[in-house]
Amino acid sequence: MSGLYGSRGLTIVSGSGAFVRDGAGKEYLDFYCGSGAALFGHAHPRLREALANASGRPWTIGPGMGAEVRDRLKARLNRLLPGRSLFYCNSGTESIEAALKLAVALRPERRKILALRRAFHGRTLGALALTFNPQYRRSWTHLLAPVLHVRPEELPGAVDGDTAAVFVEPIQGEGGVHPLSASLGAAIGAACARTGALLVCDEVQCGWGRCGAFSASSLAGLEPDILCFAKGVAGGLPVGLTLWKKELGDFAPGGHGSTYGGNPLVLAVAEAALGLLEEGTPIAGARSGGEYFRKLLKGIDSPLIAEVRGMGLLNGVELTVKAAPVIRRMQRNGVLALPAGPSVVRFLPPFPAVREDFDRAAAVLADALKAEAA
Ligand SMILES: Cc1ncc(COP(=O)(O)O)c(C=O)c1O
Repeated sequence: MSGLYGSRGLTIVSGSGAFVRDGAGKEYLDFYCGSGAALFGHAHPRLREALANASGRPWTIGPGMGAEVRDRLKARLNRLLPGRSLFYCNSGTESIEAALKLAVALRPERRKILALRRAFHGRTLGALALTFNPQYRRSWTHLLAPVLHVRPEELPGAVDGDTAAVFVEPIQGEGGVHPLSASLGAAIGAACARTGALLVCDEVQCGWGRCGAFSASSLAGLEPDILCFAKGVAGGLPVGLTLWKKELGDFAPGGHGSTYGGNPLVLAVAEAALGLLEEGTPIAGARSGGEYFRKLLKGIDSPLIAEVRGMGLLNGVELTVKAAPVIRRMQRNGVLALPAGPSVVRFLPPFPAVREDFDRAAAVLADALKAEAA
């Protein structure tokens, strides 16, 4: 393996619901969940059933072929988000790449693309151009599309008639867990509507019910022209979706594509996952569980906590010290979390997490902070 990711010193061998186990049988409460992709928890019975059923049919059929599950999933998505065209792909980055190419194709005469400081939109060269962190961009700047990164409050004023697209995460994840306020979201939307710039909402991390609404854009006062989902869409199998208002137009034939995008195996699981969301319990649970968890986190009495932020099941605790040692201590004590930038401990609990799990995560964080402060 390349050394890209470092190592958390943990090999996972099994898991169920909100828990995973290592080879020695030690159990961990998983609020890391594969960077948020295991949104429905591990080994969900309905997702396993869908996968098992689909595994006996063709796994992949090629992009130009018809597949019932593609049409069914599109129809179900259209009930939630009417009037959209859809491109199926395999990851968050790919859903952003598609959005970027589409925006440029639909606004060919415009030169400007805007994104936010602290934004994270992925690591391939197109998506990386939209990502802010200079550490991720440094070695490739000469290959990146010219994207202007501005502060959230500067964004409405920066949109003009030369702007092709504006990319925003309704709630920034990797950049430190920063929800966009609904009033700012409305101002950004108004600026896009006034100038004809396309509003692209990246819900790769915050969407698909995680933050307490099917689409997190609605929580931030945003009405996207183009919308990207990935991570939890098929409970952790690789899938990305790019949806856009049909009336905007389309790629030219052959203008984009993917071999695996929309493969029936993964879409069968995505359809089952969407079925779970349509039943309402996970999304309502994300809202109430998230509120409960944030109250606990805000109640921790530690001089090392600067701020608690989040929405639904995307939460961050900004520390006055580095997050990594605290996350390591928590892991030793059986709770998995992840950083969001240098000083934020991020929690991405799955839908099956219950109050006892939130109690435990908050208690383990409190202990880790106490030990860190000593
Ligand atoms: C908001 C956002 N956009 C895009 C991506 C890239 O997704 P992927 O890693 O699936 O390519 C991520 C990944 O963390 C993300 O959080």
